[in-house]
Amino acid sequence: MMNRRTSLVAANWKMNGSRASGLAWLEAFAPRRAALTCEVVVCAPSVYLAALSAAAAKGIDIGAQDVSEREPGAFTGDVAATMLVEVGCHWVIVGHSERRQLHGEGDAVVAAKAEAALKAGLRPIVCVGETLAEREAGQTQAVVARQLDAVLDRVGAAALARGALAYEPVWAIGTGRTATPAQAQEVHSELRARVAARDSGTAAALRLLYGGSVKPANAAELFAQADIDGGLIGGASLVVDDFASICAAAR
Ligand code: PGA
Repeated sequence: MMNRRTSLVAANWKMNGSRASGLAWLEAFAPRRAALTCEVVVCAPSVYLAALSAAAAKGIDIGAQDVSEREPGAFTGDVAATMLVEVGCHWVIVGHSERRQLHGEGDAVVAAKAEAALKAGLRPIVCVGETLAEREAGQTQAVVARQLDAVLDRVGAAALARGALAYEPVWAIGTGRTATPAQAQEVHSELRARVAARDSGTAAALRLLYGGSVKPANAAELFAQADIDGGLIGGASLVVDDFASICAAAR
C-alpha cells in the first residue's frame, strides 16, 4: 500500500551559529523551499527563535530544541511552552539524547515535556534511541520501547501523532557512523507496531524520523525504507546545500 504520510525533515542546529548566520541560512534556503514536497522544520537555539520565526519564509516552520515541563513560574533558566508559542514556534524537540545524557533527563521528564508542549499547542518531536553498549547487549528494542511507552502512557498515541517520533541511535549521532537503512527500518517498524498495539489508525499516520549522521549521500536510501518518514538532521543541517539535498531525498 502507498505510504500517505507527508515526509518531514527537521534541522537540529544544536548550540551552533549566530543570529546573523541563522538569518542568512533562512534567506539562502527560502528559494529552495518551493521545489520540496516534504514539510520542513528548523530547530534553533532559543534566543534566536523570535528573529528566525519573523524571517522564515512560508513553508518553513521554526522549532525549539527543548522546553520546560512546567508552567511559568520560579524556574531560573527554563523556557515555558507558552513562551515558545509566543515567539512563533510550532515544534519542539524533546528527549534528545544530548539532553538525556548531559542534563539527566529521564523518561518521566521527557514525557512531561511532551505533555507540556502539546498542551500549549506545540508539536513535539520525541526522540528515542539506544547507546552503543545497549545495542551490543541486545537491548535496543527494550530501550526504545521503554522510552516510547513513557510518552504514550502520559499523552496517548493520538496526541503523539500531532508531532513526530524520531529514532536516533546514540552511537550514530555526530559520529559519521549512520545506522544502515535495514538497521533503522527494523527499529522503525518495531516502534510503529508498538504504537499500533494501542491505536492502529494513529500508528499509520505517525511520522517516524530517523536521525544520526544523515547526509546527502545516505538520505535517499534511508528515506526509501517503508517506515522512515523523514529525518532529524544535526551536523548536515548547518550547510544549506546539504540540508536542501537531504530534504529533496524525502518524498
Ligand atoms: P547528526 O545529529 O546529524 O549530527 O548526527 C542528529 C541529531 O542529533 O539530531
